[in-house]
Amino acid sequence: MCGIVGFLGKRQVKEHLLQGLRKLEYRGYESAGLVVMTANGDFSVAKAATGVESLRDLCLKVDALEMPGMIGIAHTRWPTHGGATENNCHPHSSCDGSIWLVHNGVVENFQELRKMLVDKGHKIISETDTELVAHLIEEEMKGVNLETAVRAALPKIVGSFALAIICRAEPDKIIIARRTSPLLIGHIGANEFIIASDSVAILPYTKEIYELHDDELGIITSAGCEYKTFNGDELFKKMIDVDTELGEVDKLGFPHMMLKEIFEQPDVIATVCRGRLLADAGKVKLGGLEKNQDVAARLREIDRVIVVACGTAYYAGLLGSYLFNRIGIQAEAHLASEFLYSQVVYDPRRTMVLAVSQSGETADTIRALEEAKMRGALAVGIVNRVGSRMTRMDDCGIYTRAGFEIGVASTKAFTSQLSVLAMMMLYFGRERGKMALGEGQLLIAELLKMPDKMKKVLAKVAEIEKIAQRFSQAKNFLYLGRGYSYPVALEGALKLKEVSYVHAEGYASGEMKHGPIAMLDENFPVVAIAPRDSIFDKTKSNIMEVAARRAPLVVVTTEDCDDFDQMTEFVIKVPTVEMGCLSPLLTVVALQLFAYYMAVARGLNPDKPRNLAKSVTVE
Ligand code: M6R
Repeated sequence: MCGIVGFLGKRQVKEHLLQGLRKLEYRGYESAGLVVMTANGDFSVAKAATGVESLRDLCLKVDALEMPGMIGIAHTRWPTHGGATENNCHPHSSCDGSIWLVHNGVVENFQELRKMLVDKGHKIISETDTELVAHLIEEEMKGVNLETAVRAALPKIVGSFALAIICRAEPDKIIIARRTSPLLIGHIGANEFIIASDSVAILPYTKEIYELHDDELGIITSAGCEYKTFNGDELFKKMIDVDTELGEVDKLGFPHMMLKEIFEQPDVIATVCRGRLLADAGKVKLGGLEKNQDVAARLREIDRVIVVACGTAYYAGLLGSYLFNRIGIQAEAHLASEFLYSQVVYDPRRTMVLAVSQSGETADTIRALEEAKMRGALAVGIVNRVGSRMTRMDDCGIYTRAGFEIGVASTKAFTSQLSVLAMMMLYFGRERGKMALGEGQLLIAELLKMPDKMKKVLAKVAEIEKIAQRFSQAKNFLYLGRGYSYPVALEGALKLKEVSYVHAEGYASGEMKHGPIAMLDENFPVVAIAPRDSIFDKTKSNIMEVAARRAPLVVVTTEDCDDFDQMTEFVIKVPTVEMGCLSPLLTVVALQLFAYYMAVARGLNPDKPRNLAKSVTVE
């Protein structure tokens, strides 16, 4: 949430700051701003807060301004304190305008700090927590240099921050600091530096990237970059491994990134499987789990899996928990934000806590994983972003290899996570003798056929668009699924909510009669996920109950099923799979397309859903 970029170099920086913001826009897009400083310590500032068009409008403003300077910091905002107004937009400054900063994070002791600063005479002009940090540094900067003032100010902040700070008195310097929120530094060479919240903004300049860890500072000048702890101890940093294969982050002719990423899924599944499936042996090779002897020994001892994740990743994890149970390993999924508070009882020596995350940065999931590690559980990650925070915390893990996902609504991340979870089922199932050779071979054969089957679902794009147009004015939806299709119902409903703003609830089909059925009438559409599988008859009965209430029905089923053809004109048929547990890989694609076209039909931009950001780095 919120993207920071900064530049110190030998070139005019305004264009480079804007280019960085464009790359980081997925982290927040409700306002954007930047400040550039000249060698004499003069500042020029530009801000825009025009909703999803903020960055475009900022670029227009900046184009019209001169903004000379070779040092600057910039920010794209996902608001926590104060609305998306220009006044709340970063950068923020001290009372005398001599210190400017940008911030990603949350100042939790906002009220106390604000009162203390106002009592001392500071004039606070925005509603943000960020502005307080500028005043706090100003308060400390009496007769000392910026670094000393920053080191004195930071311990007074409770909460999370990634900060980039510049100051008139030291016009050849950016100070950066971090606690919890991510911050990376790219050494471009010849004493040029770029800082950013995500490597995607740095990689066009350099692969020499270093990471600031918690309670560390970076002091960047044209003479070099020094790293220190908040106490002032010097640090030596090693270059980090980052995902240099960011892939194409342009739309490549698709109208939106979300649609492009939906269409990438056949390739993604092929990539997830590449080199991992041992078809003859009916086994899978997961190098990430074979890290060392210790990890291998721990994995053999595991008899319980606890998945922690958020949003879409949680739904993938929920399905994953079904897969582990299928091979006799006790498993459950928890929302990461609730995990700490639900006081789950487990024996850490025999438990794998499995974090599922696209970004590897989600604050709630990181907290849950930290807690599990502290208790001594085996921490395992299923993560997409190479080198992200979770991948550095876990004891071992598996990359989902989905490539860079820009769309705020996760699509290919979900199907790649499901594929990895299916491979984990195969891995443990075969290791522990809970899956026979033939079953292992069948699963592999099905995974290998999946890209072609997905293409067949994608070929139904026009049909699905039509259905979405028909329902675009609906105000509510109920999504129903049973067994493996239940997490798909939850995910389908989430997709619809986040991009089309239509209220949707995902429900277990069998649970409908215990309450939600009361809502159904001819104005309350239901999307039912009903592949022909071992529980098809039960799901079908639930769908009949919906039809009897005259609720409009959209059914996602398999090609071998004509049971619904007379019941509704809105039937989407996906290819059959021999192993029912893999059907979500296909049914969900239909629901992703449906959500996408609902958003488009309602005149919305699915790539920039309101109030959302791609990486949720606050708890
Ligand atoms: O990066 P993560 O997978 O950890 O993110 C988790 C959720 O924030 C994410 O899945 C969110 O729910 C998406 N916007 C869903 O489309």
